[in-house]
Amino acid sequence: MTPDLLNHHLQQTLSRGRVAVSHPAGCPSIPLYLFDPSVLEGPLSHDEAQAVVAEPAYWSFCWASGQVLAQWLLDHPETVAGRTVLDVGCGSGVVAVAAALAGAKRVIACDLDPAALAAARANAALNGVAVDTCDDWHRRPDGIDVITAADVLYDPDNRPLLGVFAEAAPEVWLADSRVRDLGDARYVHRVTVEARTWPDLNEFEEFNRVRLYRAGNALG
Ligand SMILES: C[S@@+](CC[C@H](N)C(=O)[O-])C[C@H]1O[C@@H](n2cnc3c(N)ncnc32)[C@H](O)[C@@H]1O
Repeated sequence: MTPDLLNHHLQQTLSRGRVAVSHPAGCPSIPLYLFDPSVLEGPLSHDEAQAVVAEPAYWSFCWASGQVLAQWLLDHPETVAGRTVLDVGCGSGVVAVAAALAGAKRVIACDLDPAALAAARANAALNGVAVDTCDDWHRRPDGIDVITAADVLYDPDNRPLLGVFAEAAPEVWLADSRVRDLGDARYVHRVTVEARTWPDLNEFEEFNRVRLYRAGNALG
């Protein structure tokens, strides 16, 4: 697949935007089509970064939590191997791709943004794996064994998803860099890892600290 479709999507928010293949520092073995900062002739200025965030092409960045959760799945393939995985808020598809690389039986990448679903498909193809897509959490297929979600709690409207996820699947892996207290005892903190959005949006340092949680009935 060529990145033309992704470039088209990106140019809706940034006229000179384009994607390029890069390897996020937090999960360097996974190449991804992501925003190419060289079109801005140097690092993103604060104003440019703000503009990009105000009109978010979230999928064109690999968020800190996505890198941490993706690398966790690669390092702990037993988490998803042989299972059906639903990644909610897939963005670029980094976590979905990692789940597929780690041996998941089936992976569904879910996002409200059609451009994110295109990115997930393109990035799956780039990595030689298969990922299905779903544009609405409520229309997810049956039989989900594991739900993954990385950096979706930035939107307060998504906070109730924590409880919904825990009810909807036997196991949930959640990575988050925004909310300090999830307020749900089912989510057990596993590890905290430093990572930065890729390409770097020069976010506040506190947003570069990713907490990884697991919720589930089985031991793990
Ligand atoms: C900050 S990005 C994170 C992307 C990716 N998980 C990562 O870590 O790189 C959040 C993504 O979640 C999607 N999103 C937000 N709320 C959602 C919801 N309720 N259902 C599905 N996708 C959602 C957004 O469209 C966006 O692509």
